[in-house]
Amino acid sequence: MTRAHNFGAGPAALPLSVLEEARRELLDWRGTGMSVMELSHRSPVYEGIQEEAERSLRQLLAIPESHAVLFLQGGASLQFTMVPLNLLRTGGSADYVLTGAWSKKAAAEARRQGTVRIAGSTEAESFRRIPRAEELDLDPGADYLHFTTNNTIFGTQWRREPAAPERVPLVADMSSDLLSRPVAIDRYGLIYAGAQKNLGPAGVTVVVVERDLLGRAPEGLATMLAYRAHAAERSMYNTPPTWAIYLLGRVCAWVAALGGAAAMAERNEQKAALLYQRIDRNDFYRGTAEPACRSRMNVTFRLADEGLERELLAEAERAGFVGLKGHRSVGGMRASLYNAVEPASVAALVDFLDDFERRRG
Ligand SMILES: Cc1ncc(COP(=O)(O)O)c(C=O)c1O
Repeated sequence: MTRAHNFGAGPAALPLSVLEEARRELLDWRGTGMSVMELSHRSPVYEGIQEEAERSLRQLLAIPESHAVLFLQGGASLQFTMVPLNLLRTGGSADYVLTGAWSKKAAAEARRQGTVRIAGSTEAESFRRIPRAEELDLDPGADYLHFTTNNTIFGTQWRREPAAPERVPLVADMSSDLLSRPVAIDRYGLIYAGAQKNLGPAGVTVVVVERDLLGRAPEGLATMLAYRAHAAERSMYNTPPTWAIYLLGRVCAWVAALGGAAAMAERNEQKAALLYQRIDRNDFYRGTAEPACRSRMNVTFRLADEGLERELLAEAERAGFVGLKGHRSVGGMRASLYNAVEPASVAALVDFLDDFERRRG
């Protein structure tokens, strides 16, 4: 079996050992005679699987008891709507920092529910960087402040979260970097992330929400859209995505075995540094994001001679490198280096880029 070097932006690479474990357990989960997919979500066996997944995620990210962990469906995109439905008060206003296509979408969905203020934006610079602290115009009376920690499309990442004014809950879309590094959870009112980049397969969305915020949603809010209902039922109000949650739990165990979130951050930094060093070595390749704001997760770059990009991508595909085509709004290449992308794959990509330069430079 040949495994691809998968640099896709998501769904993305999963750890091989987790896939092998899932294959071993596929038909008979620990003597039950059933696949995890066949277990009732109300059975003690399945409840144990979900509790273990939550426990491992809590341990890895040091999530305090003040925050509930929810396993929901609908992707990060549904969170663009659930966040304002639950947190934006009638007559209130929410602050959004725009750093890319996903934060713009989040703001646009919030605008359907109420007043949105743009507290900062780097759109005029094609989202090549993250706004500096002094460029933010934060409303001390906002119902919350929303930002996107890692910008999957533009290849930028916040080094430190914006300092929300006192009593303004910080809300973050961490779809493309949750579990890739330690996070100071207590600084956040709410964090959400689709699992399909660093946490597991598509189908489950993780929400970490401060319990004190659960009462804010209006009484009449539809049950399925209220965090309160999911928290009260421990994500079992309706049938949860059992198989995706099981895999998320196995990915957490894999992260723990590698040393946890801090070890993962170090490994991810090393992978990114290797690729950025190659890009910066000369003018053949060029990074698209401002160096101080570069993402450790999504490395976006172009060729000085853009006419060669199609050729590079075709050759890369033939050589077993998958998912390197940049998003159409940036062009060029994007290598996503999520947790499960092995350092050896990044080293192989660097060799390939060296070789391409030797032949075409
Ligand atoms: C930062 C970010 N937010 C939101 C989304 C949308 O996620 P989903 O497809 O799970 O709705 C993505 C998907 O790539 C993303 O990268």
